[in-house]
Amino acid sequence: MSAEYILETQDLTKEFKGFVAVNKVNLRVRRGHIHALIGPNGAGKTTCFNLLTKFIRPTSGRILFNGQDITGESPAHIARRGVIRSFQISAVFPHLTVLENVRVALQRKLGTSFHFWRPERSLHTLDGRARELLHAVDLGEYAGHLAVELSYGRKRALEIATTLAMEPELMLLDEPTQGMGLEDVDRVRQLIKQVSADRTILMVEHNMSVVSSIADTITVLQRGATLAEGPYAEVSRNPAVVEAYMGSADAELVGAH
Ligand SMILES: Nc1ncnc2c1ncn2[C@@H]1O[C@H](COP(=O)(O)OP(=O)(O)OP(=O)(O)O)[C@@H](O)[C@H]1O
Ligand SMILES: [Mg+2]
Repeated sequence: MSAEYILETQDLTKEFKGFVAVNKVNLRVRRGHIHALIGPNGAGKTTCFNLLTKFIRPTSGRILFNGQDITGESPAHIARRGVIRSFQISAVFPHLTVLENVRVALQRKLGTSFHFWRPERSLHTLDGRARELLHAVDLGEYAGHLAVELSYGRKRALEIATTLAMEPELMLLDEPTQGMGLEDVDRVRQLIKQVSADRTILMVEHNMSVVSSIADTITVLQRGATLAEGPYAEVSRNPAVVEAYMGSADAELVGAH
């Protein structure tokens, strides 16, 4: 257990009625890194995320955050510790403005009572912080637009802004560029790199050009188990990884970048 690692799992395992979806995974996420979790469809990536945020309980194994055992904690506890999973797009309120969406997230972080406490001043403070966050994700000029009017990539940027509002120490992103065109992928890729400056990011990502360009460490899962872990250059040359990706839709792993 070292301060070097913000998150560690020890033999993390999840069985669904005898089917082992996550099999003794020992994940070690280094503080300040962008860590990517990759693997073919059904490898157990989302199940891992669900275990980390306690949406589901592990069958066995332990989860340590900053050296403390959080295996038995509730999702709310874990969020309060600063482990925040990006909201799904559906969680963006479409008929609120971009600014209002971030303000709602800030209010959630502060607790609802804040809203009634010296309302004028608090709203002002929130607006200032909300604008900062929008600026950070390059949405400053969209503050007054309705969320529903944004392009897909900008909605994702807004989702990242609302996640940042929760002040995550460890930010979990499940396929942040899924379903995006090239331009939006690049926008979100740069955005993740930018917001990683003073936090740790664990992301599930299928797009290997994104993974190879921004991830410091990659863990490859296959059928629930860790197949390889290391920097992209090393992992992409690993014969077991190459074989796992052969003939799959993810064959682009080899030689991407
Ligand atoms: N609630 C559940 N009950 C039974 N089996 C499940 C459940 N959740 C996931 N699984 C199974 O566990 C395996 C891992 O699924 P998971 O969604 O974690 O994969 P993934 O790596 O995220 O895949 P993808 O790349 O397709 O998102 C799959 O075989 C899936 O069918
Ligand atoms: Mg998944």
